[in-house]
Amino acid sequence: MGVDQVRHDALVRQALEAAPTGMLVVDEQGRIVIVNRHIEDLFGYARHELIGQRVEMLVPERVRAQHPNSRRAFFSAPEARPMGAGRDLYGVRKDGSEVPLEIGLNPLVVDDGTVTVASVVDITERRRMQARLEASLAETETLFRELHHRVKNNLQVVASLLSLQSRFTEDLTSVAVLREAQQRIHAIALVHEMLYRSETLTRVDFSSYLRNLTSHLTQATAQPSVVLDLDLDPTVALPVDLAVPCGLVVNELVTNALEHAFPDGRAGRIRVRLAREGSLVVVSVADDGIGMSPGLQPASARTMGLRLVATLARQLGSAVGWDVGNGTSATLKVEVE
Ligand SMILES: Nc1ncnc2c1ncn2[C@@H]1O[C@H](COP(=O)(O)OP(=O)(O)OP(=O)(O)O)[C@@H](O)[C@H]1O
Ligand SMILES: [Mg+2]
Repeated sequence: MGVDQVRHDALVRQALEAAPTGMLVVDEQGRIVIVNRHIEDLFGYARHELIGQRVEMLVPERVRAQHPNSRRAFFSAPEARPMGAGRDLYGVRKDGSEVPLEIGLNPLVVDDGTVTVASVVDITERRRMQARLEASLAETETLFRELHHRVKNNLQVVASLLSLQSRFTEDLTSVAVLREAQQRIHAIALVHEMLYRSETLTRVDFSSYLRNLTSHLTQATAQPSVVLDLDLDPTVALPVDLAVPCGLVVNELVTNALEHAFPDGRAGRIRVRLAREGSLVVVSVADDGIGMSPGLQPASARTMGLRLVATLARQLGSAVGWDVGNGTSATLKVEVE
């Protein structure tokens, strides 16, 4: 062996010794053959206490019994892989304390058999960081939930104030105006209510929203001969900036159908449909009532409800399509994502 080779071998040994992770070599019987400095520091044993011992001495008691089997399985199909396959791994120190570890295994064929080279990394700090991140994520989530809850509560207070006001109002037109305003506020509050109950906190399950909204509206307007017919795709979820204007549009359209399409107890049907067409979400409200009076152009009407509908649709980058041939039908198509 030349001088260079000797020097090189010494360097390899020194490098192993100085490696910034724990290095451990274990033979086929599970006996520790080589450890580096890092392993001594990590487990609190002196080298001579480890060499020749079974590697199970570093494995926590509760999983120690099954470890020789895992070891044999590794030797029967040796390949480089992380140890533990998704399980959290721990080592046990001389003082009995446990340390979370990440362990990489690599088989190495030598003259008299196969040994396992293991890298051992202490992941205590990583775990701590992860726990901190998870906690802060949970906190943000709670904060958002709380925020939606408060917005909803505040809107409800506003609605209650209007309701109170209408009880002190004798003029019937004013009472009706106050009630409409209350319903519009309720339509917005409902978005926030659904959001704080949702999993994601960012998207509203719009079919549930519409079911809720329309049931509220039909209860508020006694029209016993009018059937509400819902055809709602349950997979449509809208972000809050689309859900509020879309919700308000449906609020106006359904309110109009209930108030104007079926005068004098006339029977009929209001059909609310929610569907997806490619990247578009389609919402439509159709009734088979008396229809709008001829000459009324719903898209350019100057009255408050229809103006609100047109304005909101424009805000959504769209326009409402009207069909006033047989009853009244309005369709809104909104681009999502
Ligand atoms: N589905 C419908 N069937 C029959 N007529 C309708 C229908 N929707 C609207 N109209 C007519 O269009 C008019 C304007 O509607 P719009 O919603 O703008 O005002 P409004 O409902 O009268 O009042 P507001 O909505 O401001 O309380 C209504 O007064 C009604 O005559
Ligand atoms: Mg109206």
